[in-house]
Amino acid sequence: MANFEQIKLKYGAKDYAPVINQETIETHYGKHHKTYTDTLNKLLNDNNIDCSSITELLSNLDRIEDENVRTAIKNNGGGYFNHNLYFETLAPKDTAKHEPEGEFLSKINEAFGSFDELKAKLKALALSQFGSGWAFLSVTPDGSLVATKSLNQDNPYSEKSGNTPIACIDVWEHAYYLDYKNLRAAYVDALFDIIDWSVVEKKYEEAK
Ligand SMILES: [Fe+2]
Repeated sequence: MANFEQIKLKYGAKDYAPVINQETIETHYGKHHKTYTDTLNKLLNDNNIDCSSITELLSNLDRIEDENVRTAIKNNGGGYFNHNLYFETLAPKDTAKHEPEGEFLSKINEAFGSFDELKAKLKALALSQFGSGWAFLSVTPDGSLVATKSLNQDNPYSEKSGNTPIACIDVWEHAYYLDYKNLRAAYVDALFDIIDWSVVEKKYEEAK
């Protein structure tokens, strides 16, 4: 029986303020993310799909014959994975490591020119995503870094890019509307204050 679980938040729902306020975290994590997770588990159980790895599932969606089931698993499985990555890489402003260092920083400089240019690139992708979606920082199969954007709950796995996502920006309105209304750029700028680069760096080490 499939039983994917949401990652546990390492901090309290109010600890991400003022960048993201308590009500947004509670709704986003407690309602949206929970619904993606519950729906994914129900879909897998109802359709007798046995899979314990979300990355394997999303990388092999074409093995699911029924188109409606495949689409529903892409959306809810993507929502499950993407939000796990999002919440796992956020930390309160005073706790988060604000800048990468060492070999990881060298890789960032190699791919984007500088850390500031990486942030500018992610911001540009986040702002140019029409409607709902995500911006991702990923590790390519040859160990370099790449920034991309995805529609809805798609991600580098469901897109079969071969890349491993290690950080992301949620640009669905549910991520920022209560705090920033329509000002997606203000949300993205502020979000960089609570992305914990020590977690992202660890994910880079695991993925490279
Ligand atoms: Fe979201």
